[in-house]
Amino acid sequence: MDHFEYRDGKLFCEDVPVRAIAKKVGTPFYLYSHATFARHFNVFDGAFSQIPHIVCYSLKANPNGALLRIIAKSGGGADIVSGGELYRALGAGIPADRIVYSGVGKTPEELRYAIESGIRMINMESESEFKTLRRLSRKMKRRVPVSIRVNPEIDPKTHPYITTGLKKNKFGILWEDAARIYREIAAEEYLEPVGISSHIGSQILELGPFVEAITSLKKMVLELRGLGMAIEMLDIGGGLGITYKDELPPEPKDYAKVVNENLGDIGITLVLEPGRVIVGNSGVFVTKMLYVKQTAGKTFYIVDGAMNDLVRPSLYNAYHDIVPVEQKKRKAKVVDLVGPICESGDFLAKDRELQGLKEGELVAVKSAGAYGYAMSSNYNSRRRAAEVLVRGDEFFVVRKRETLKDLIRGEKTPSFLEVE
Ligand code: LLP
Repeated sequence: MDHFEYRDGKLFCEDVPVRAIAKKVGTPFYLYSHATFARHFNVFDGAFSQIPHIVCYSLKANPNGALLRIIAKSGGGADIVSGGELYRALGAGIPADRIVYSGVGKTPEELRYAIESGIRMINMESESEFKTLRRLSRKMKRRVPVSIRVNPEIDPKTHPYITTGLKKNKFGILWEDAARIYREIAAEEYLEPVGISSHIGSQILELGPFVEAITSLKKMVLELRGLGMAIEMLDIGGGLGITYKDELPPEPKDYAKVVNENLGDIGITLVLEPGRVIVGNSGVFVTKMLYVKQTAGKTFYIVDGAMNDLVRPSLYNAYHDIVPVEQKKRKAKVVDLVGPICESGDFLAKDRELQGLKEGELVAVKSAGAYGYAMSSNYNSRRRAAEVLVRGDEFFVVRKRETLKDLIRGEKTPSFLEVE
């Protein structure tokens, strides 16, 4: 149930016809369902009710402030990877003690900001980062709760660009090195080894890789405790997959069950960092057909949304279901749905069977809530799309479409190029 459904052949988001929103805000735009987003969070959170835990929503999937406020109100936390995400999370009212920070390239400024904000845990990803944090914590004389993100060397069997827990990936620290660094952390006055973390990849569709990860993480927790460290948090990252086409991902409750079973009662607070599973199917991307272009043997539907708005098809060859905003009794056609950008890689779908569409009609690109707007750009000087949130029979623009002025905001003309 995702609250995007047809009523009399017209696509609705909750109780609002999608076409009515397009009329008001123009196209293209991202459209999120409040009920879906809140339900996904609550179902995920509820699945872990047997274990002390914090669900730290992964901001990178979709950091819109309205969504973050829903997370804050629901008692959730945040998984951040930059100072920018920390700023957003705090601004949306997510308490610092529910924020965890991963990332391979945190700058000293970002680390200082995180320490000053008093966040729950910094997940270190290299020995050099440890040294930087050591220096900062001594200088600031502030207690810093840390973990090491360990690389558990597990193949999550997903797209090569989104696996993160393999030896060849840049993420995390191998256990033999981590164990040594943990001892050094323990000897520090200000650094406190409170947890251990890992994240093995994204869009994971099987429970096996999670089981493997948890089994080895549990061993590591016990080993560190054996050395006298009070490891109280286990951060198992995000990564649970969703249905884009016909995938059958595990349900949150089944995921929670295997976590529970394999972890056992070791008296630990679990940290979870779901992104896609919360927001992916809470959003669609709505775009309008500009032109039908027929070339030898091919039909192109040229729409006003492009790879700068939704890059997943171009970047990962990702499949997103595409549905008409108004169903018509027309013959299906096999088409390429492409954007206006000057790149052959600019497509939303290739050789896709779609209901025949006429110029001016709308389509919704589904499962676009995660890594959609978040990965958008201004390429070809295209203004970034609007974002709209529906709640019941009301809709709210939660981000305005950019203006032409926004495109040049921050640019400066050097004096020698100024016109007299
Ligand atoms: N935690 C960490 C440390 C991560 O690196 C990620 C995602 C997550 C949590 C959230 O993972 P999720 O639950 O969303 O799978 N742009 C790609 C996905 C990149 C994921 C990067 N890390 C895509 O569009 O498929």
